[in-house]
Amino acid sequence: MEFSVKSGSPEKQRSACIVVGVFEPRRLSAIAEQLDEISEGYISNLLRRGDLEGKPGQMLLLHHVPNVLSERVLLVGCGKERELDERQYRQIISKTINTLNETGSMEAVCFLSELHVKGRDTYWKVRQAIEATQDCLYSFDSLKTRKSEARRPLRKIVFNVPTRRELPIGERAISHGLAVSEGTSTCKNVANMPPNICNPAYLAEQAKILENDYDTVTTEIVGEKEMEALGMGSYLAVGRGSANESLMSIIKYNGANDDSAPIVLVGKGLTFDSGGISLKPGAGMDEMKYDMGGAAGVLGAMHSLAELNLPINVIGVLAGCENMPGSNAYRPGDVLTTMSGQTVEVLNTDAEGRLVLCDALTYVERFEPEAVIDVATLTGACVVALGKHATGLLSTHNPLAHELLNASEQSGDRAWRLPLWEEYQDQLESPFADFTNLGGKGAGTITAACFLSRFTKKYNWAHLDIAGTAWRSGANKGSTGRPVSMLTQYLLNKSGAEQGE
Ligand code: BES
Ligand code: MN
Ligand code: ZN
Repeated sequence: MEFSVKSGSPEKQRSACIVVGVFEPRRLSAIAEQLDEISEGYISNLLRRGDLEGKPGQMLLLHHVPNVLSERVLLVGCGKERELDERQYRQIISKTINTLNETGSMEAVCFLSELHVKGRDTYWKVRQAIEATQDCLYSFDSLKTRKSEARRPLRKIVFNVPTRRELPIGERAISHGLAVSEGTSTCKNVANMPPNICNPAYLAEQAKILENDYDTVTTEIVGEKEMEALGMGSYLAVGRGSANESLMSIIKYNGANDDSAPIVLVGKGLTFDSGGISLKPGAGMDEMKYDMGGAAGVLGAMHSLAELNLPINVIGVLAGCENMPGSNAYRPGDVLTTMSGQTVEVLNTDAEGRLVLCDALTYVERFEPEAVIDVATLTGACVVALGKHATGLLSTHNPLAHELLNASEQSGDRAWRLPLWEEYQDQLESPFADFTNLGGKGAGTITAACFLSRFTKKYNWAHLDIAGTAWRSGANKGSTGRPVSMLTQYLLNKSGAEQGE
């Protein structure tokens, strides 16, 4: 898909389609007004006859509007003018893209980026439009022998900005939006890949691809032998029931021209979580291929980062592992010694994510990081608490938590903070080891984070629980690519990169 920005008036556009907004009730946007004038009231006439109310997402496609050079005009309902918010803006863009794709317009000039969205500037509107477009056009069909291609797919979109002065801002928004979308689609591709293909070795291959594609990236793969030597008894235990070797892929991005302290991203990479001996119920178990969503998110963010070429140092860790039952598998009752030396009593082999992450979190101490953020499809309880809209955020460091919340608001890839108070730590007490891997009744997302917090004392740390946000279930099943956009936004902010005005 090709994107560009332009600043011009609608009547001068010679395109397959020009896209303009109509507000509720039947009120033309400034741009639609211009088209109406040159077409001698053609559009206002239609509205008067009741063809379009202007409700959000309503579409009306017109052909051969008098005196208009473009073949088609797509009128898009934008709701009440003063109520147009971020969510509606994104939805309107998505619907527009789908409609354009179906109508057979191969190119379009879109004026929706000129609409007023509360509190948001041109940079934001263009970037969101790019991300929403790429999200909309994504499909995962690499494993289908018959691919369904749109007959005349959309190839090129021009977003209009109000003034020429804003062209450079729009261009920056395009390049940032494309970089984010590339990472997002990398994330979706690996997350959607089935677990017989996407195993820990496959994750390591993806890391290698990044290394090959970018001079700023190097990788290192830590296998079971090395984990043994490092004393990663907890990580190793989880993978013991699987025929696939546990592999931890380290992706180093060196963008600062110095050895300044890196930001470290650690992703839970359970390429399949059967629950192990504490086997999960059968229904919906296929979705546990997405239990590597954290690793996919980290890989995607590293891809976006490399594409943006930001002047910071970042290390991504994909904690690849498979949780299977078997005669060699770890069991409930086992006591494991973690890399930190702390011992853990396993009460449920399905609470495996924290057991893999805790050793990865100890491992990354060696990088003397400025901050560590782990990303994990960690708890079903998070889906109960926040549903599919917000990622759970837990942190022992307020400034880091706020930076992440800000990034999540800016990107629209939203997170919500849950408490991490000392009181919850008591739920992890064990009679046989330092603590257990099971928090017992209540606050499952928090007690999981409490567990991790015992391994993150040496640096500033935040935890993202993406159990509800990483993928969609049902007819529209698939990876969402979250939280690549939020993480990339955080990194953009960290690097001090110029964005909007
Ligand atoms: N990967 C799951 C969490 C999960 C479940 C994410 C459903 C998304 C949807 C995790 O490994 C797990 O099984 N967690 C258990 C923890 C429990 C045993 C303490 C859970 O949430 O039930
Ligand atoms: Mn599990
Ligand atoms: Zn899991």
